[in-house]
Amino acid sequence: MCGIVGAIAGRNISAILLEGLKRLEYRGYDSAGMAVYSAETELLDHVKRVGKVAELEAGLEEHPLPGHLGIAHTRWATHGKPEARNAHPHLSSDRIAIVHNGIIENYVALKEELIAEGYTFISDTDTEVVTHLIYRAVAKGSSLEQALRETVERLEGAYALAVIDQQQPDRMLATRMGSPLVIGVGIEENFIASDPLALLQVTDRFIYLEEGDLALISQGQIAIEDGSGNLAVREIKQFEHGHGTADKGEYRHYMLKEIYEQPAVITNVLEGRIHQGQVLEQIFGSNASELFDQVKMVQIVACGTSYNAGVVARYWIEKLAGIPCMVEVASEFRYRATVCMPGTLFITISQSGETADTLSALREAKEQDYLGFLSICNVPGSSLVRESDLSLMTNAGPEIGVASTKAFTSQLVALMLTALILARRNGYAEEEQMVANLQQLSALCEQVLALDPAIQKMAEHFVDKHHTLFLGRGTIYPVAVEGALKLKEISYIHAEAYPAGELKHGPLALVDEDMPIVAVAPNNSLLEKLLANLEEVRARGGKLFLFADSKAQVKPGDDLELITLPDVPTVMAPIIYSIPLQLLAYYVAVLKGTDVDQPRNLAKSVTVE
Ligand code: G6P
Repeated sequence: MCGIVGAIAGRNISAILLEGLKRLEYRGYDSAGMAVYSAETELLDHVKRVGKVAELEAGLEEHPLPGHLGIAHTRWATHGKPEARNAHPHLSSDRIAIVHNGIIENYVALKEELIAEGYTFISDTDTEVVTHLIYRAVAKGSSLEQALRETVERLEGAYALAVIDQQQPDRMLATRMGSPLVIGVGIEENFIASDPLALLQVTDRFIYLEEGDLALISQGQIAIEDGSGNLAVREIKQFEHGHGTADKGEYRHYMLKEIYEQPAVITNVLEGRIHQGQVLEQIFGSNASELFDQVKMVQIVACGTSYNAGVVARYWIEKLAGIPCMVEVASEFRYRATVCMPGTLFITISQSGETADTLSALREAKEQDYLGFLSICNVPGSSLVRESDLSLMTNAGPEIGVASTKAFTSQLVALMLTALILARRNGYAEEEQMVANLQQLSALCEQVLALDPAIQKMAEHFVDKHHTLFLGRGTIYPVAVEGALKLKEISYIHAEAYPAGELKHGPLALVDEDMPIVAVAPNNSLLEKLLANLEEVRARGGKLFLFADSKAQVKPGDDLELITLPDVPTVMAPIIYSIPLQLLAYYVAVLKGTDVDQPRNLAKSVTVE
């Protein structure tokens, strides 16, 4: 999704902006641009390109933009196609330049108003109205700060904005509502970005702007006003580098690196969270125990992969804690007339903590009588964490591949810790055993990763296929859904997942030799039933790709390829069985030659609705 970088310094900042954009590439985008104020010409100049940041870099070689003040952007098209004229920064009268993340919902009315006054538009974006509104206000005599404040008062929707003015090259303005924005604090130089990762090459000290904040940033000073125009004091936070760094190391792709980090990540999620075989309650926050005592029901809300983790957690919470648990995708939850039962704990799950739908669902829920709000998240200081009563960090470190892998398994571990805390209140007696199981997970992950060559070989069967069906039952059904999501995201092969028991109610009609069936079948109480479902597939000429353990007792043959996983405690199977499915999707994508880390049309962090 769109990325913002800005800088004001005593040195030339265009290389810093470019490096920042490269660090944001993982978020997904389709064009990029930069605007810089040149002290030599006293003008704002810009370069925009469709495609990768490398295209912009080539453009900057032909047309360098040296200067001490500038803003840059990677755009993920929402209003208007990926074309250079739609890329940011957007300029008004060569005086005001802005970059914007988010969506301005009332831009049509604003555009009509501006056109009536003689403003011309060169793009199809919603953003261009903002740059003209700011220009209109400064042209009428407002200060830049006033102009921005007046402008945002007119806006409906979400925005993170960075603004520069050719006539005031000693400052850069930043404001946000609904989209994240941080200030990177340097020594006699300051920066802004939509994600701290973009600036780690220049600083590790950040101010996380709050909703409605407006910051006036100069080389040596940062002044912030809150949404009511009062001076605000915002803490400077030291960036906590989680496990894993944001570079590929020896791996060909970030995704593969992140798959291989999972044993370490699992150890990391558990670190400091367990004492003498018990999950520590204070890891959720200081008032956690009191809140957990009152939980009678759980509502989980999330998107994408995080939603799939939530579905696994429902099985765990209902089985171990004996309380009802509902799970819903955030984009549905936020617009439904939901009914909140007394004693319901509202849990959001999110890798980024900035997903617009999840954040809005949380805000909607806060209008109701939920008992409390817990977020399971990978980014400390993210909006979701800041707006929740309790939080549990997944400590997975930066995840760069758009297709989520280590974030998913770390969420599952964190959700298991949550389920155990709730189960304790239900007289659950096997917590110690469960904790011991969790502590063995990392080693089991290593064993599964050793299956890499066999999975790589299996992937060859999928390359020329157009459709795939994934099957699982019970807690493994959401794992199958996640496996199908991985495959479709990065290989562009249509993949659907079904609870295996539903096969005969429709998808069986699709089964033939051109549609591989991936079945995920760890040993559990549903294994026999699942194996019977698979026979229905074999009887119809379908080719099966089975992930199972030694208990499955099936023989591979022409119509069945088998990957045998180590025996795992039933309850831990969703975590372990996710890994071979990630590897399968990865190798199919590599064989197909797709852009594994940045698949087409997708974004890492979806900060618009
Ligand atoms: C995007 C990403 C997915 C992710 C989803 C939710 O669609 O491509 O990988 O699962 O957003 O993101 P979150 O940060 O809230 O977990």
